[in-house]
This record gives sequence, C-alpha cells and structure tokens, in this order.
Amino acid sequence: MVNLEGKVCIVTGASGGIGKALVEKLAAQKATLVLAARRLEVLEEIKRTLPQKEKILCLKCDVTSKQDLENLVGYTLKEYKKIDCLINGAGVSSQYPFWEQPLEDIEKVMYTNYYSYVMLSRLVVNPMKEAGGGHIINITSGSVMVDPPPRNFIVYTSLKVALRSFAKGLFWEMRDFGIKVTSIFPGVTRTPLTGKLKNIAEDRLMEPDSIADSVLFALAQPANTCPLELSVINQQTPWTKPVIPFKQNHPQGAKK
Ligand SMILES: NC(=O)c1ccc[n+]([C@@H]2O[C@H](COP(=O)([O-])OP(=O)(O)OC[C@H]3O[C@@H](n4cnc5c(N)ncnc54)[C@H](OP(=O)(O)O)[C@@H]3O)[C@@H](O)[C@H]2O)c1
Repeated sequence: MVNLEGKVCIVTGASGGIGKALVEKLAAQKATLVLAARRLEVLEEIKRTLPQKEKILCLKCDVTSKQDLENLVGYTLKEYKKIDCLINGAGVSSQYPFWEQPLEDIEKVMYTNYYSYVMLSRLVVNPMKEAGGGHIINITSGSVMVDPPPRNFIVYTSLKVALRSFAKGLFWEMRDFGIKVTSIFPGVTRTPLTGKLKNIAEDRLMEPDSIADSVLFALAQPANTCPLELSVINQQTPWTKPVIPFKQNHPQGAKK
C-alpha cells in the first residue's frame, strides 16, 4: 500500500459511510488526519476506534458555511503548517421530481455537493503551491456517466457533472505546481445516503471500502502520475437498465 506517515490529510464527510471507511484506511497508513463534519460526536466516536489518536484532529464544520471552511483550513495550517491532501467527501443526496423539489433542498445540494468542494479547493491550493505540491480528491459520482441525468436526480447529477468539469480544469491549471487532482466516481454504495433513497437495488450495492480503496490507489501513485478520474462501478450496475423509459410495444400501424 502507501505510507502516509507525515502526510496531513483533511477529510470532509468523515462521519459518513464512505468518509468513515476512508479515514480508517488512511489511519492504517499512518496519515495525520483532520476529520470534518457537523456531527462532532460521531467524529470523536470514530477517532476512538482508530490507531495513533494523537495524529487525529476532529473539527466541527458545516461545509455550507464559508466561515467554517476558512476555519477548517486555517486551523489545520496553524496546527500542522501544511496540507498534503484534501479529500472532499461531504455530500447529500436528493431524489425529487424537479417540480416538487423544495427550493431549500436545491440550495442544500448546491452548497454541500458543489460550493464546498470549490471553496475548499480554493482555500488549499495556495498553501499547496507554496509547499511544492498536494493532492485534491473529490468524491464525485458515477452518475456523471448517465446522460441525460437520471429522472428525480437532475440537480444532484448536474452538479456532479459540473464538479467533474471543475476538477479537470483545476488539474490542468495546477499541475505545473505539483498539485494533483483526482475525481472518484462511485457507483451505488451501501451508506446512510443510499439508505434514504427509494428504489435502490439492495443486492447490487457496493461496500464503502471499495471506494476508499480507490482513494488509496490514487494516493499511492508516483509523483509524476495523476489518476485524473477513477470510476468504481457496481459489477451489475443498475444503470444498465434504460434510465429513460421507452415504449417497447409500438401502437398498431406505427412505423418501427
Ligand atoms: N453512497 C453512494 O451510493 C454514493 C454514490 C456516488 C457518490 N456518492 C458521494 O459520496 C460522498 C459521500 O457519500 P456517502 O454515501 O458516504 O454519504 P453519507 O453516508 O450520507 O455521509 C455524508 C457525509 O457528508 C457529511 N455532510 C453532509 N452535509 C454536510 C454539511 N453541511 N457539512 C459538513 N458535512 C456534511 C455528513 O456528516 P454530518 O452529517 O456529520 O455533517 C457525512 O459525513 C457524497 O459526495 C456522495 O454524493 C455516494
């Protein structure tokens, strides 16, 4: 695997399904970790299960708040003087016919799943640039490969598509400074997030460890190699079903 001793990694969404699996793996590789989420008590509980607790800092952070994001980066720099890796993993899902989606829900998805990723990237790139390098890893979504965005998920998916585009641009803009950018595209994974969704094929869910392993793979690559995008998709992905229903039975006399 990869030795992360001495590497400072911020993980947002560390209290969630994918984030928790990830911090367990990063801690096992001896990383110095800053765990961020709103539920500080859950972060502290996770910390209790991890080795080398002295290398783990838990910070309460609402990623929809600019002030909290500035505090997260500011506090990490004050404590450790550098940030080697930012893993943007905080996220919410949202499943509504667009005409029924509450305005507040649209706002929440935009701020959590897009705004926070861009703002945190902006806050860490200069310290990374000064340090001669770094790695930004976004937990995006396999839904970016579904075009058009799936029904009832159009705000969620279109923001993930925007995030994919942002990350690709960020890579080209920052690569001469030694900064890597990786987008991870998970398929449907067993976490509290999918637990809230309707019509999920339980038997096809992947485990969060599979997604966490892809992050470890990205971190293990040599300095001159950046895995720009990694898709980890269910072997029997539900998306092989048509996402736009079409009429199988043509009306009598209709042209085929
Ligand atoms: N699970 C899947 O099938 C799947 C598939 C594709 C992509 N993804 C993406 O993977 C990422 C993680 O998802 P997950 O499945 O692990 O979800 P999850 O288990 O529901 O965890 C979500 C995490 O995000 C944090 N979070 C939510 N809103 C926040 C806020 N305002 N401020 C700070 N933290 C916040 C939660 O922490 P607190 O509640 O403690 O704040 C929690 O740690 C998301 O970006 C999601 O879109 C998931």
